Amino acid sequence: MARDLYTDFAATKWGKQLTSQLGLPQPARLRRYRANAPLVEGPVVVVGQSAASDHLATQLVSWGVDVRRQVGTREKVAAVIACFDTVASPSDLAEPALATGGLLKQLKSSARVITVLRDPQQTEDPAKRAGRSAVTGLTRSLAHEMRAGGTANGIVLGEDLEASAPGVAGALRFLLSGRSAFVSGQFLSVDTVNGVLPEDWAAPLRGQVAVVTGAARGIGASIARTLHRDGARVIAVDVPAAGEQLAQVANEIGGTALQLDITAEDAGDRILEHAAGYAGRLDIVVHNAGITRDKLLANMDRSRWEPVIEVNIESQLRINRALLNSDLFAGGTGPRIVSLASTSGIAGNRGQTNYAASKSAVMGMVSASAPLLLARHGTINAVAPGFIETEMTAKIPLVTREVARRLNSLNQGGRPEDVAETIAFLASPAAGGTSGLTLRVCGQNLVGA
Ligand code: NAI
Repeated sequence: MARDLYTDFAATKWGKQLTSQLGLPQPARLRRYRANAPLVEGPVVVVGQSAASDHLATQLVSWGVDVRRQVGTREKVAAVIACFDTVASPSDLAEPALATGGLLKQLKSSARVITVLRDPQQTEDPAKRAGRSAVTGLTRSLAHEMRAGGTANGIVLGEDLEASAPGVAGALRFLLSGRSAFVSGQFLSVDTVNGVLPEDWAAPLRGQVAVVTGAARGIGASIARTLHRDGARVIAVDVPAAGEQLAQVANEIGGTALQLDITAEDAGDRILEHAAGYAGRLDIVVHNAGITRDKLLANMDRSRWEPVIEVNIESQLRINRALLNSDLFAGGTGPRIVSLASTSGIAGNRGQTNYAASKSAVMGMVSASAPLLLARHGTINAVAPGFIETEMTAKIPLVTREVARRLNSLNQGGRPEDVAETIAFLASPAAGGTSGLTLRVCGQNLVGA
């Protein structure tokens, strides 16, 4: 992983002064997960009067958060929860929007603004849909305006869903916490009452068994470590050629290694057999293994096109069919599948027609599979990382890399653990109300925004 020397420099006193005088980007040190750290450090202000705002305030109080409806003008604020869920037309936005605006200069570093809205697509009323859609534009713009590592995201409630649903609390907690450090300008939809809040928030996956493909290195190894930290027993899968690294990861987290090429016809059955022998259950599958074989389409041949489609999507479709044919893949609180997409799959990327096709395919697969998983109270979602500091991105030439990593609202690249944290959240029982979604972990990358 390449060190981001600019961010290190900008964090020094002298670096801060110089970058500010020259009008250069000022990447902040992001508040990330730390064991035993409080959920938020400082008061959280709830803006807007609605049943949802009351539910959320009550939930926050139950977590020991210092919840306020108002704060003094000199007080620092850790987060603002802005409730727009009763908006019936765009003119209804003014009051909560301006009340939120009035708090922005008091925000601490790595602060959070979370808007709460009803799903625009779930109303046919033009004024209502306009009003709800307006909240998405406001949230995205605010994410661009946040400073010092702060983020702005939205929680989108299904039409009739009460804000007391477990999935809403799960989304709220994730977005407030350090786990969502590199998620900004995004929307987490909660549609169903499914989901269970864990007894122990420090170990939400306790007792669960998770498979992670491509776990020998990079983002996959980070996912395996994070799921283990959250209490899961992990089956780490990778190709035989990566066997040594795979064994190291599996040993480090007290899990088990399965050497397997996921493109094998019987890969799904092999995973199920291994899980049956290892633990007698399987709760979570993370499809992380992925490859690139970049070439302009004009120069593309079958040897570059087909492996990318095979590894990045066809294998996932086959494995999912096997999982959904098996009673083992039940999950105590509903099984979970999480797939790796990419911002390339959203925006497209020169030289990546094959890769972007495979990653758009992942998003399509995930949204079409949601009803199949719902039938067993499970969920399936995708995560689309932006620029992440890995071996892959360390190989990008220096100048291109420097431009790519600053092209987002947080002015820095994400880390593998940022992707892993979002996957661990989507894999958790508390995320049971969210399915069929692709969530970007990209610091609000300008590409494909
Ligand atoms: P990586 O190349 O460092 O690791 C991928 C792992 O998958 C390797 O250990 C490899 O051996 C394994 N793998 C490849 N083909 C396999 C197969 N047929 N069977 C089993 N294992 C196989 O990649 P990285 O950067 O960690 O990426 C992980 C995922 O995240 C990929 O799906 C990638 O497309 C996605 N992603 C990565 C981004 C980044 O910035 N690094 C950005 C967007 C998406």
